[in-house]
Amino acid sequence: MELVIDRVSKQYKNHIAVDRISLKLQKGVNGLLGENGAGKTTLMRMLCGILKPTSGSISFDGMDVGEENYRSVLGYLPQDFGYYPEFTGQDFLLYMAALKGLAKPQAKQRAAELLQLVSLQDAAKKKIKTYSGGMKQRLGIAQALLGQPKLLVVDEPTAGLDPKERVRFRNLMETLGKDSIVLLSTHIVSDIEHIADTVLIMKAGKLIYQDKWNESKGSLEDFYLQHISGEVKNETNHE
Ligand SMILES: Nc1ncnc2c1ncn2[C@@H]1O[C@H](COP(=O)(O)OP(=O)(O)OP(=O)(O)O)[C@@H](O)[C@H]1O
Ligand SMILES: [Mg+2]
Repeated sequence: MELVIDRVSKQYKNHIAVDRISLKLQKGVNGLLGENGAGKTTLMRMLCGILKPTSGSISFDGMDVGEENYRSVLGYLPQDFGYYPEFTGQDFLLYMAALKGLAKPQAKQRAAELLQLVSLQDAAKKKIKTYSGGMKQRLGIAQALLGQPKLLVVDEPTAGLDPKERVRFRNLMETLGKDSIVLLSTHIVSDIEHIADTVLIMKAGKLIYQDKWNESKGSLEDFYLQHISGEVKNETNHE
C-alpha cells in the first residue's frame, strides 16, 4: 500500500500554494505539520481529487487520483466539514452512506459499527446540534471511514477539542494507522508527537522535512520550531 506524490504543485494566479512536493506514504500515521497558510489543505485537497494540481501526479498503488478506483479507497475529513445540525448522528451516517452508494442493510450495519468505533453509540439518536466539538469530529471520522478507506486524509481534526477529546482522537488515529495510510494535518505538535510514524513539515508550500519519527529524536515541538524558523537547513531534495 503506497501513496505516491510526484512533483505536485498548485499555483493560484501568481501565488504558489504547493511547490513541487514529492512524497511516498505508507501504512501508519503520517503527521503533516505547518503553520497557517503553509499549504496543508491545498495539498490534501489535491490528494482527495477535489483540486487539480497545476503540475505533477498522484497515485495510490498504481491508480491515478482521477480514477474511480482511487476514490473508493479514500476517506476524507475536510478542515471545514459541514454537519447537518438537525440530523441525528446515525441519520447523518446513513445519509453519507447513501451518497457513497452503500446498500441500505450494509449501510445500517456499517453505521452501527462506526458509531461504536468512535464511541458515539449512546449519542447515535441525538441531534448533531447537541454534540460537542469532539463528538462532531468523531462523527466526521466515522463518515470518512464508511467506505473502509485504505487512505484516510484528515485535515486539522483536533481543532477546538479539549485535552481529553484530543487523547481520545489520538488513540483512534493510532488504531486506524495500523491498517491504513493516515495523513493527519495539525499545527498542534502534541497531537502527533506520540503516534506519528512519519513526520512531514511544510513551510510556504514546500515540504521542508519528511522522515520517520521516533521519540529518541527528542522533542518534536523543538524539532518543528527549529525547522520552521529556518534554523535547520532544508533537507528535502525536490528534484
Ligand atoms: N482558492 C484559493 N485561491 C487563492 N489562494 C488560495 C486559495 N486557497 C488557498 N490559497 C492560498 O494558498 C496558501 C495555502 O493555503 P492552505 O489553506 O493550503 O494552507 P494551510 O496550511 O491549510 O493553512 P491553515 O493551517 O490555516 O489551514 C495560502 O497562502 C492561501 O491563502
Ligand atoms: Mg488548512
